[in-house]
Amino acid sequence: MPLCTLTALLTVFQLLVSVSAFRQPYEYLTAIQSFADAFTNPSSVINGTMTSPLAEDVVGRIDVTTTFVGQELNTEYLFGLFVEGASETSTQLIGSPSSYTTQSLVVEPPVVAVSLVNQLRYPTIDSSFPLQIDLFIAFDDDLKIISYDAILRRWSEFFTYLVPLITPQIAIELNSTSTNSTELISMKTAMDVCAMSTEYCTDANQVYDSNDACMEFMTQIPFGNPWEGGMDNGWCRYIHKNMVKYRPEVHCPHIGPTGGDMCIARDYVQVTEDMPFNITLLSYNASYNALDMKNIPDHNQDELVAIETEIVYMTTVAFYSVSCVIYMLLLYVLAKAVEFLFGRYSLSYGTMSITNQRNSVTYVMAIFLTGGALTLQLISSPVLNNRYTFAASGMLKLTALVISGLYIFELTYRISMRWPLMTHHFCTIFAIVLLLSVLSYTRHPALMGAGEIWLFQATTEQSVFVGLLMYRLDCSPKRTRNVLYFAAVQSFIFKLGFAAYLLGFWAKHLAQFHSSPNDIALSVLLVVLTVLLMGTQVYGAGAVWGLAKKVDRFMKNPSISPVESSKSHSTLVFEELHKV
Ligand SMILES: *[C@@H]1O[C@H](CO)[C@@H](O)[C@H](O)[C@H]1NC(C)=O
Ligand SMILES: *[C@@H]1O[C@H](CO)[C@@H](O)[C@H](O)[C@H]1NC(C)=O
Ligand SMILES: *[C@@H]1O[C@H](CO)[C@@H](O)[C@H](O)[C@H]1NC(C)=O
Ligand SMILES: *[C@@H]1O[C@H](CO)[C@@H](O)[C@H](O)[C@H]1NC(C)=O
Ligand SMILES: *[C@@H]1O[C@H](CO)[C@@H](O)[C@H](O)[C@H]1NC(C)=O
Repeated sequence: MPLCTLTALLTVFQLLVSVSAFRQPYEYLTAIQSFADAFTNPSSVINGTMTSPLAEDVVGRIDVTTTFVGQELNTEYLFGLFVEGASETSTQLIGSPSSYTTQSLVVEPPVVAVSLVNQLRYPTIDSSFPLQIDLFIAFDDDLKIISYDAILRRWSEFFTYLVPLITPQIAIELNSTSTNSTELISMKTAMDVCAMSTEYCTDANQVYDSNDACMEFMTQIPFGNPWEGGMDNGWCRYIHKNMVKYRPEVHCPHIGPTGGDMCIARDYVQVTEDMPFNITLLSYNASYNALDMKNIPDHNQDELVAIETEIVYMTTVAFYSVSCVIYMLLLYVLAKAVEFLFGRYSLSYGTMSITNQRNSVTYVMAIFLTGGALTLQLISSPVLNNRYTFAASGMLKLTALVISGLYIFELTYRISMRWPLMTHHFCTIFAIVLLLSVLSYTRHPALMGAGEIWLFQATTEQSVFVGLLMYRLDCSPKRTRNVLYFAAVQSFIFKLGFAAYLLGFWAKHLAQFHSSPNDIALSVLLVVLTVLLMGTQVYGAGAVWGLAKKVDRFMKNPSISPVESSKSHSTLVFEELHKV
């Protein structure tokens, strides 16, 4: 038996842990933001202040250059290139990213499509120019980039725009009198590449016989078109010059006569049709792997895609909520534990009818659970002042689950229930379902505030349960009477107060729901439910008051026990009503 319990606990724990591997879309937003921050602040990645946003076996492709495999290489190209460029004092053909704005963004975990407008700084001419970069990015379970496909939008146009603006400055730096920008760019490229080669590509890594040989080669070859950054030309070698100092053995060939495996002739059709990524960028397909798909017919694979991309609304028939099922089990265990403790430590409990025993158990459960719910509500109360947070929304949904679950449990656990209490429970559950559903369809945040206020009606009646429990357990009549009087007045005032608050809040913050004909249903239901609930609550407060009076009468005439006279009208009313 203990072994079985342990196994069950471990299973639940495992479930909850594995759930944490599933990511919410907002987590991808954060990951994209860190990537963009790193891109505009590359030295922090290179010097290790910021952890790399790239996975170990990342594969990346940039349309104007080529494909890069592995974390080290990609870090060098995405970050190192810009760090080195920024450290140069002469004019660079590639600017330093300084800031960005996000222009478009779609998240469908684990793939994100994002378009960033980056400002590229050219300090020697004291200017910045915008460059739009479109990216498809797939993330792994640790939110590291595992595949990315980048398109430098309008790169050719950018470069054509840039060249006449930087060549006068380049001419000054080169002591040249030329005004021919083709010549100036070619000379600049040759000077910069050869300086790197002469400094870093030495001994086994040497690729040119001498600096002169390098200059001669570099001024002979064409610079190339802006989109030919992965081809056999001066532009490609210029891009690769910044990485040479990181790993000369890898990068020297790229700036050498052969171009290594980077600056080479490429076939357009092959480049276009190639799919170099290990992890697909098709979001709907990304969560299935080839092994899972083995032996599944094509048609059923399509069905799996439909399942994978289903959005679960409050009313979608989906997998049941694990937390809800676990909560129901917990309620059962709690009830059994309270029964056990009562049986062990309370004399009066043994003499009660089963109906009253069960009622007493539910009072105890209600005191603790509504107390917990009330705490969550108080913590999340800033939503009433438009201070919405993810945590507050989660806590309010949890409160709704705690209360509606408790009510459903009570409906099944109690031996009998009178109609006012039943009406109260049904109305409350319906109000919760209604608000959560409308919230999930309309996403109107003020509905959270309405839920917060409404739930207070169910979570501020602990005094009633305490009074009823004292009554049931034969506590001192004087104290019981006082608690019951207090409970009747307190719950009446609170319920009336929160009902008024709710209606005021609805009038002020939920105008959409009483002015737009499409959304009017919520308002009608809200008002009807509030009135119905109010009715049962006034009745309930009255019953508690009646009970207090009864205890009072007993104190003046102790010959009749208040508990035994449970056939009297007020007790009957109260017995099933205490809840309201
Ligand atoms: C790393 O780079 C960041 C950003 O440029 C800088 O603020 C920080 O001082 C650097 N840290 C070290 C240890 O160089
Ligand atoms: C340009 O001329 C200046 C001063 O005459 C000199 O210091 C500099 O090295 C020259 N630059 C080049 C690239 O020749
Ligand atoms: C600039 O120089 C290139 C190469 O030397 C030459 O082909 C081109 O005609 C020149 N352009 C102008 C406008 O003189
Ligand atoms: C990922 O893809 C690259 C190039 O497409 C390949 O070289 C590498 O071996 C692949 N890695 C894995 C783990 O499949
Ligand atoms: C989707 O993934 C499966 C398994 O990895 C693969 O066999 C299939 O070709 C993929 N479909 C597409 C359109 O990429």
